[in-house]
Parts: sequence; C-alpha cells; structure tokens
Amino acid sequence: QTHFTIAIDGPAASGKGTLARRIADAYGYHHLDTGLTYRAVAKSLMDQNMPLDDEFLAEKAARSVDLSRLDRDVLAAHDIGEGASRVAVMPAVRRTLVAAQQSFAARSPGAVLDGRDIGTVVCPDAPVKLYITASPEARARRRYDEIRLNGGSATYEDILNDLRRRDARDMGRTDSPLKPAGDAHLLDTTEMDIETAFLSAKTLIDQAL
Ligand code: C5P
Repeated sequence: QTHFTIAIDGPAASGKGTLARRIADAYGYHHLDTGLTYRAVAKSLMDQNMPLDDEFLAEKAARSVDLSRLDRDVLAAHDIGEGASRVAVMPAVRRTLVAAQQSFAARSPGAVLDGRDIGTVVCPDAPVKLYITASPEARARRRYDEIRLNGGSATYEDILNDLRRRDARDMGRTDSPLKPAGDAHLLDTTEMDIETAFLSAKTLIDQAL
C-alpha cells in the first residue's frame, strides 16, 4: 500500500481537528483541515468586498486556494467561519475544493483529512472513517474556554446559538450535508478527553493497517 487515508467528520468544535492532528503526528501522515479551504474562499471574497453568494466569483476564488498556504491563525476569525459555511453551500465551490482535497488525500505514506463530507464525498473509499460528535453544550463550552484563553470575549449563550445555526446550515444543505457515512465509526467526545479519543481511534486504525 502506498498511501492510507483516514477520514474524520463532525460538527464544529466536536474535537475532530485536535484528534486529526494527534493521529497525523502519531502515524507520520499529512493532515488537512478541509474547513480551512472553505474559510480561505470566504476570506478571499471578504477581503475584496465581494458577495459571498455569487457562485461564479466564489468558484474562481476556490480555484486559487493554495493548500500549502492555509494559515489556521489567519483564518480563525468567527466571521470567516460564518462566511465559510455560506460559500460551502455552492456546488461549484465544493467541486473545485473537493478535487484539491482528493489529490491531497493521495499523498504518501498517508493522509488524515477532517471536515464535514470526507467519509461521504471526498474519500468514500477511506479504510478508516470516524464521525466525531459531542453535545452542543459541550462543544459550546470548549469554544467558550478556547476564546477566553486567547483573550477574546463572547458569551456562552451566543456561542451555543452560533453553533446550533452552523449545525443546521451544514446538516440541512442539499450538496454534501454533514452526516455520518454508513461505514463510519461514531465517537462521542462529550465526556471524553483527547487521549481517550485518540486511543479508540488508534485501535480502529491499527486493525485496518
Ligand atoms: O470546520 P470549520 O469551522 O473550519 O469549517 C467552516 C465551514 O466550512 C463549515 O461550517 C462548513 O460549512 C464548511 N465545510 C464544509 N465541508 C468541509 C469542511 C468545512 O462544508 N469538508
């Protein structure tokens, strides 16, 4: 086998990104946070004062996304995440970004991709698929702690409402809605720390390798 793919999906603040990085580190695999690709499209449009719902312009922005230059810190802002979930409903944007994500997934010796549609659309043949969930309250609490830690201010209530709205948009869209692949392993991290989540993922990966 020349490459091995691990697909990780789940809603915002479920812990999927942290888990994906932990797995990639442990196995020496490449890691792609596909949410950053949608964020990069939103940021590019916002920087140019362009509308977020023009499919032609957004697809053009998607074509100029460079996977090797996605900066998590630059793309972290809340309004960019909100914009990302708006550009992510457009099929032309998804088609373009998915093609780039698929070539990333083919890298040797392996790749871990996390997002919303990795197990269902981007890498339907991935030998290991994980679907990470946690209660909205637990996810809002994590986001809140993270924002506080970084010196930001936001209320828990606002964060919880934002997460619920984002979930509804991601699960309700027609193209590639967020949902577990039929063959995904479900991992509920509501009461689980990252190491425990990693160990259960590791068991599944080692069985498939
Ligand atoms: O995970 P993150 O918050 O960075 O994702 C931002 C938005 O990008 C999500 O709310 C979702 O709408 C979109 N997205 C997507 N498909 C992916 C990854 C992210 O539609 N594979």
